[in-house]
Amino acid sequence: MKALILSGGSGTRLRPLTYSQQKQLIPIANKPVLFYAIEDVIEAGADEIGIILGPNKDQVIDSVRSRSWGVPIEFIYQGDPKGLAHTILIAEKFLDDDFVMYLGDNILRDGIVRHEERFRNLKSDASVLLTRVEDPQRFGVADLNPDGSIRMLVEKPKVPPSNYALVGVYFFKPLIIDACKAIKPSWRGELEITDAIQWLIEQGYKVDASFVEGWWKDTGKPEDIFEANRLILDDISTKNEGQINESHVMGRVVIEKGTLIERSVIKGPCVIGACSVISDSYIGPYTSVGDGCRISGTEVEDSIIMDDSTISKAGKVVESLIGRNVRVQKGLTLPKGNRLIVGDNSDISL
Ligand code: DAU
Repeated sequence: MKALILSGGSGTRLRPLTYSQQKQLIPIANKPVLFYAIEDVIEAGADEIGIILGPNKDQVIDSVRSRSWGVPIEFIYQGDPKGLAHTILIAEKFLDDDFVMYLGDNILRDGIVRHEERFRNLKSDASVLLTRVEDPQRFGVADLNPDGSIRMLVEKPKVPPSNYALVGVYFFKPLIIDACKAIKPSWRGELEITDAIQWLIEQGYKVDASFVEGWWKDTGKPEDIFEANRLILDDISTKNEGQINESHVMGRVVIEKGTLIERSVIKGPCVIGACSVISDSYIGPYTSVGDGCRISGTEVEDSIIMDDSTISKAGKVVESLIGRNVRVQKGLTLPKGNRLIVGDNSDISL
């Protein structure tokens, strides 16, 4: 089996972070979202991976190549995001075998091994992963036949036919390429994968539904990223490779190599990356601090702080998503007030 992982798109719902960073590289518990997808497809037996690239293609290539994965990885440049079915068309040459298509901003707790086995055993023409959600309007939605097979798929419907959302993982035979060629762009100008699958159903092909049991997150919006961070941190095991002086560390905490914790309280679950310094601070539950960060005189909870950022005497920081190389500090000069140098589309609560 091959795997096609989508790491294109422009990530508009995550601006300003996505002006400088491809959204699939945003870290969840200090690991890019994309890496969870790569690990899942390898675990399910993918022997070749194609990664679709968008605007920040070099970043994605550098990040993926920073690790050795043990399977060949081919990068396929899409450019502007013209739809999920469009990625299949531009990857046509690569897709000469059965494959799993995995949206690179999705995370599934239990991976996809069980779903791959089901696809292989049932020999269906396509299989989509579904899960029950409270807000189906945000997703592709499936209408099921009484026997559980799929009757119809519809993308982000105003009046959803059910609560079963399409999780961003799909198993296909190369036949899906014909379906993607047969469909026309939707009202939003994209070639929709839901339309291509609907085409398969209408041609009489067998499209199976495989239900996800553990949690699943589409990390398209900041609140989804916090939730994914909490869910992943809930499962971490303690590891300490750093140095701890005059500090109190409680609960499940990961502290990476070269990190110094001094005169601080760390309460898990949380992760602190390599070569960071935490002094006179409190790092509370559900926090991920990246590599090379400096946090002093500050309390942080339920937040993600990316690599090389400095936070100094900043009071209490909660539910915050702080990008790379950011500086947050108490104003030291008069007049007193909040001094902000902030990019477009930022979101600040004072
Ligand atoms: O997350 C599940 C949902 O994903 C499904 O329920 C929907 O049926 C499916 O259309 C998709 O909806 P989204 O609105 O989340 O799609 P989004 O535009 O965010 O794209 C999903 C991923 O694919 C994201 O990682 C970006 C990437 N992408 C997207 C497009 C449109 C590409 O690489 N190229 C593209 O052209």
